[in-house]
Amino acid sequence: MTRIIAPSLLSADFSDLRSACEMINDSAAEWLHIDVMDGVFVPNISFGFPVMEAVKKYCKKPLDVHLMIVEPEKYVERFAKAGADVITVHLETLANPITTLRQIKALGVKTGITINPDVEVNALKGLISEVDMVLLMSVFAGYGGQKFIEETWQRIEQLKKIIADENPDCLIEVDGGVNPENAPKLFAAGVNVLVAGNAVFKSENPQETIAQMLK
Ligand code: DX5
Ligand code: ZN
Repeated sequence: MTRIIAPSLLSADFSDLRSACEMINDSAAEWLHIDVMDGVFVPNISFGFPVMEAVKKYCKKPLDVHLMIVEPEKYVERFAKAGADVITVHLETLANPITTLRQIKALGVKTGITINPDVEVNALKGLISEVDMVLLMSVFAGYGGQKFIEETWQRIEQLKKIIADENPDCLIEVDGGVNPENAPKLFAAGVNVLVAGNAVFKSENPQETIAQMLK
């Protein structure tokens, strides 16, 4: 089973992103998670293309881009050009989900779809065959450092059933409040990709924390 740790750049020291990239390069993390927030879909603004392009220069690992923006169809091409390897969009922001998911696929990057904790997992039915990955938010999108929502466990089970029916190769990613304590349980539950912001970047030894989460 695929098991990937994707540290979230949102929790890194923004005054020294080059060091953050170098730390990731020398770690067991397979991806770097990039949180893009527009202040409209979520009540927070993070960063955009110039920062991502700078990170792409130094980070040797694939960039897992999580778009928390309205009308993502207008920007996915630019994110692909800026170096995204995975592009995940929120179902809540899609006027025509299948059209946008196919647009992402056509860019030659991995396609992801995500939902906030208040959206029914069943809302993803009929879309799983269009994506490579489903990201289940385990906190409400918008900020790092929030507490893992326990209902996520049931949502993972629900999602696994839909994936088994529609596209068994589809990866499951979980994002929000992931730490070395719940990481092994999440992997055991069948999650493939774990995003961790604060748990990694605010820890004393980020590389050790990443390795620990994979144990
Ligand atoms: C929240 C972001 C997350 C966040 C995770 O909107 O999507 O990726 O950075 O941070 P932690 O791991 O600190 O909850
Ligand atoms: Zn994220």
